[in-house]
Formats: sequence, structure tokens, C-alpha cells
Amino acid sequence: MCGIFAYLNYLTPKSRQEVLDLLVTGLKRLEYRGYDSTGVAIDSPDNKNIVMVKRTGKVKVLEEAIQEHFSGGEYSKPVLTHVGIAHTRWATHGVPCERNSHPHRSDDGNGFVVVHNGIITNYNDVKTFLAKRGYEFESDTDTEVFAKLVHHLWKTHPTYSFRELVEQAILQVEGAFAIAVKSKYFPGECVASRRSSPLLVGIKTKTRLATDHIPILYGKDEKKLSPDQDIRPHGQSRELPVLPRSESTSEFMPLEEKEVEYFFASDASAVIEHTNRVIYLEDDDVAAVRDGTLSIHRLKKSLDDPHAREITTLKMEIQQIMKGNYDYFMQKEIFEQPDSVVNTMRGRVRFDGNAIVLGGIKDYIPEIKRCRRLMLIGCGTSYHSAVATRQLLEELTELPVMVELASDFLDRNTPIFRDDVCFFISQSGETADTLMALRYCKQRGALIVGITNTVGSSICRESHCGVHINAGPEIGVASTKAYTSQFISLVMFALVMSEDRLSLQQRRLEILQALSNLADQIRAVLQLDSKVQELAKDLYQHKSLLIMGRGYNFATCLEGALKVKELTYMHSEGIMAGELKHGPLALVDDSMPVLMIVLRDPVYVKCMNALQQVTSRKGCPIIICEEGDEETKAFSSRHLEIPRTVDCLQGILTVIPMQLLSYHIAVLRGCDVDCPRNLAKSVTVE
Ligand code: UD1
Ligand code: GLU
Ligand code: MG
Repeated sequence: MCGIFAYLNYLTPKSRQEVLDLLVTGLKRLEYRGYDSTGVAIDSPDNKNIVMVKRTGKVKVLEEAIQEHFSGGEYSKPVLTHVGIAHTRWATHGVPCERNSHPHRSDDGNGFVVVHNGIITNYNDVKTFLAKRGYEFESDTDTEVFAKLVHHLWKTHPTYSFRELVEQAILQVEGAFAIAVKSKYFPGECVASRRSSPLLVGIKTKTRLATDHIPILYGKDEKKLSPDQDIRPHGQSRELPVLPRSESTSEFMPLEEKEVEYFFASDASAVIEHTNRVIYLEDDDVAAVRDGTLSIHRLKKSLDDPHAREITTLKMEIQQIMKGNYDYFMQKEIFEQPDSVVNTMRGRVRFDGNAIVLGGIKDYIPEIKRCRRLMLIGCGTSYHSAVATRQLLEELTELPVMVELASDFLDRNTPIFRDDVCFFISQSGETADTLMALRYCKQRGALIVGITNTVGSSICRESHCGVHINAGPEIGVASTKAYTSQFISLVMFALVMSEDRLSLQQRRLEILQALSNLADQIRAVLQLDSKVQELAKDLYQHKSLLIMGRGYNFATCLEGALKVKELTYMHSEGIMAGELKHGPLALVDDSMPVLMIVLRDPVYVKCMNALQQVTSRKGCPIIICEEGDEETKAFSSRHLEIPRTVDCLQGILTVIPMQLLSYHIAVLRGCDVDCPRNLAKSVTVE
């Protein structure tokens, strides 16, 4: 979700100014991963302290601040060994501002400083634990607890090495993270680790390394933490249990060279200009550099764990790395969806206890339950996420639900009352039409709920409450992962609203179960990519594409058609299958491309009816159907099979083939996928 970059030079003289340049350049390469604020930490000129510079906004702003305050004099003198860490943020916890920017520190004295990518879901428990021990917090982030936890462990275990301290700290945190830590108590050392967020180590030496492998050191896997000893659930008052330490690093000296430089980074784009020799860390690896030696540790060894991590040689261009082997950001974002949907649910859905907590609106739920109606307002793709979830919201809230396009809503001077609850959905949180509709409703006394991907955005600030969808930055102009995350946010809201309705429990369980399988099912749908590409070859020279469906999948038709239009400049229309006879059927003949979504849900028979109407007009539709549904497949030679899920989540699985299809057609037609003509990412004008 953001960019981490750390640089360690060992016996390689570099001035602080050069180090800062390196850090800033590293951040620039990673900026596409997050860009709301930035920061760096280096040693102070007297080597006794750590200095940090943080800024809100892009790396450019940080660069200017550094040029102004940290050039010349002491900063131009070379240091033999040094560690600098840097971060570019995409906020999930706390608005983008200097105070919330990384690195975060353990104490006033900057004993330990940390950069973090991801979400620490149990940070409140850790915070309470630390607050009781006198720690005061200065930011709203989840990250800060990590710095303070390492500090606490350092005080209570004075003999521990830096690596051991970090190792013990990561045992206490849950969620997704990549971290890099620097400490004034351990000069010249850097420790980094990851779980579910990417991190790699680049190695630069003058001569080729003696080995292509860094051995992994395993801890003596003795006792496991039992949950009641652990601070993770709610044991705030207990002391931290500590696992047995892993073997000492001194037994290994994997790198024989003396002078060496290390780069820790979220992806290779920040490293490739310095070295092409990298190690991709795996979940729960702890990588530590001490005395110029890199070692990799794991606390537990399981049977199939390897003995070493391989150093790989990259043969990529920067552009290629940023897009992570994808040709376009949009394509990358489509393929990120198994992860982004999990991030949307992270810390909110507890699959074990079947509980959902939306921290951003929980205090407002009683008020929302008393409302007269729900209104969902958005533009474009965000509007479609409202269409997609309307039926479920009606079912689980038993309230009237209106779904509105922001512009039309304003044109109509729609009546709004104090007991209305109005949702405003926008990826950027800055969409002008949606924002104006928000202000219109707020003036009339309605409760304003935001659904945005951008912490600190206008919609976030001006709403009374809301949900951050935490999908990570979306660069492609055509929205993909934000749509599926908005969708899931609204589904989670529906589930929260029905928590105490006995008659709905079975239904809720069915949906929760389906949510827990969703990431794997999305992965399965993404496997259709080459099949979709073949279909795109059939379609890309046509003038038009009709996309038909109904019920839970009507939104996919609208969203699919929008994707086709915006990316390929081809005409496309999402058609409510129930409306066929009322006009659109006239368009159908043997040459008109048609795609139909026909799934085994309550509207299946009606969809089959529409399918027959199309085939009897000699149409040869592409069918999106459920895996193994032979009966439906028999109607056409072209079909895409998707896994079965609960009806109200089908829309997530059916929209992905549409995203892929529009993408492939756009590529075949030679369109600029990431920046379609005439369109901008954030529409801040009416
Ligand atoms: C929030 C915190 C997170 C913390 C978690 C647990 C932020 C951004 N999130 O996450 O740090 O770990 O609580 O307590 O600080 N909001 C709006 N309008 C919007 C979206 C959100 O007003 O459009 C408000 C919410 O009402 C809430 C805050 O922003 O007050 C954070 O929302 P969200 O990140 O969704 O809440 P949590 O998931 O609980
Ligand atoms: N959760 C952390 C924060 O909000 C890190 C976010 C990121 O990955 O940039 O500060
Ligand atoms: Mg707000």
C-alpha cells in the first residue's frame, strides 16, 4: 500500500547528503505505491541522534525541504557506515499530515524509528498495553505502536540484539506489514521484516559474492505463545512473553566482502539503478544487517522450509518493475484484487466469531437504524457499486434504498430530510459532483456517510462518518480494485445493520462464509485471463458490445459497459435483461456482439428466457455462467465459467472478466489503457 526504502552503507563512504539523495530517489521510484506524505530518518551529524524530516504531499516537497535544511557543512562529510530509512505513505490510519508521516519513533530521543507498509490490526490492544507502561502516543497511526513496542522490549530485555527485539515485536502484531527499523542504540544496523506486504533486499558489492545464497537461521522452535499469555487478543495488563531466541548470527558470515551496500525496498524499482542482485523476503523472515553482514532469521522451521534464500539477478527495466511485470497499472490493479479485497476486510471482519466491526460508523449505527431511508450517491463506477449492493441493503436493512447519480440528484433538487442517511461513494473522495451532493444533503440535516479510498479527502472530512475502503492507491484512470472494495464495504455495512436480526442470521453466515472464500475465487476468475484475451480478439474490431443481465448482476452489465466505453472508445451498453422486449431486442441480430450473465440464482429462469430470445434472433452470445453449468453452456460456443458464490457477491466475480475484457480490447485497439482520452482520474470539476 506504500513504499518503504532503506539504505545501509558499510565501509562505503557516503556523505549524509548523498544518503539523503539516495533515499529521495528511492522514494520517487516508489511514489506510485502511495503518495500522501513522506519522510526520512538518518543519523545526526554528531552520530549521537537520529534526525527525521517529514512532509505532507509528494516526494518533491520532501526533497525541497531536505535541500533547504540538510545541505552543505556537516552533511557533506563522508561517513563510513550509515543507515537511512524512508517512506512514502498511503494513509490507512490517521489523516495524511506530518505528525502521521513515517518514520515513527519510540520516544522523544528517537531511540528506534520505524517505517511500515500495511495495517497492524491489533494496534489498539498493543497501544493499551504500552500506554499502561507510560508510553504516550503522538500520531493516529497503527505504525507508532511498533516503534514503542520495540523500545519496551529493549528496556525489559537489555541483552537482546536488535534483530531479536524486532523479532519479538513482530510476534505481537497482527495484520499485514513490511517494516524497516533503525536505532540509535544499534548504529550501522538495520532490521526488516514482512508479512503479507512485499519487501526485498538489494545487495551491492564491489566483487561478486562468494555465494548466491543467504542461509536462513531458525530459532529453537520450542514453546508457542499461548493466546492467554499473548497481548494479541485483549491481555493488555500482562507482561510480554518472549519466545526462545534463535541462534546467534556470529556462526555465519555469508558475505565475505568487506565493503557492501544494502537496500531494503517494497519493490525492485527503487533498487534496480543500484544493483540487480536481490533477495525477495518471505512472510515472517527477519532480515538483519550487523557489521556489514546480512542474515535472515525465522523463528520456526517447518518441514519444507528451505535452508537459504536465493539471491536473484534482476533483468528488468524500472518501468517494468513498477508495473510488477504487468504492462499497465490497470492490469496490475485488476490482478491485485485478491489482495485488495482482503485489505478492505482486514481488521473489520472476524471470520471465526462471525463478527463485523466498521470502526468508522459503529457509533452511528443506532441512528442509521432509525432512519427513514438510505440514499447511495456517486458517479460512474462508484455509482455502480451502489447499484450492485442495493438489493442486499434492502434485504438486510429492510429500509428503502435509493441509488442516485450525483449530477442527476442535484439537477432534481431531490427532497432530503433530517432522518435520511446519505452515502457518498468516491474513490478519490474529491469527485466534484458527489461532493456537491454531499453538501446539499448536509445542509438539509441528513446524516452523511462517506465511502472513500483516500484518507483525509474532502468527502472524508466533510462526512459525519464513513468507511475507508483501504484498497491502496489506484493509478489506472479506469477504476477496478476500488469498485470491488467499495462493493465489499457496502456489503459489510449491510451485515453490520442486520447483526441483531435473528431471522437473518442464516443469511449473514452464508455471506460471511462466501466473503472468506472470495480472495481464492477471485484468483480463480483471474485464471480466465487468456480465455478472455481470445474473446477480445473476436470482439475488438466490432463497433458495439451489448452486455445483458439482471438482478445482482445488472450492476456488472453497467460497469462492464462503462469499462468498455472508457477504455476502448467502442460503443457498449449494459442492458437490464428484463427490458429486452421493451426495445433493446431490436438491436440483436447475427452480427451484434452480445455478452450475457446467466448464473444460478433466483433470476436464472428469467435470464435463460432472455438468452433464448437472443439466440432465437441468431445472436451468438458470450455467456458468463457458473462452473460446470452444462445446461446453460449448451446455448453458446463461447463461455466463461466462474466459481459459485452466494448470489449477492456474484457481482464481484462477474465484473472481473469484464475488466479483463475491456482491458484486452483496449490493448488490441491500441488505446492508452492507463490514461483514456478525455478522462482524468479524479474529477474535481462539475
Ligand atoms: C479507524 C482508523 C484506524 C484505526 C481503526 C481502529 C483512520 C483513517 N482509520 O479505522 O486508524 O485503526 O479505526 O479503531 O484513522 N470517515 C469519514 N468519512 C469517510 C471515511 C471515513 O468521516 O468517508 C471517518 C470514520 O467515521 C472514522 C475515520 O474516518 O472516524 C476512520 O474511518 P475508517 O478508516 O474506515 O475506520 P476504521 O476502519 O475503524
Ligand atoms: N497503516 C500505516 C499508516 O497509515 C501505513 C500505511 C501505508 O502502507 O502507507 O500510516
Ligand atoms: Mg468525516
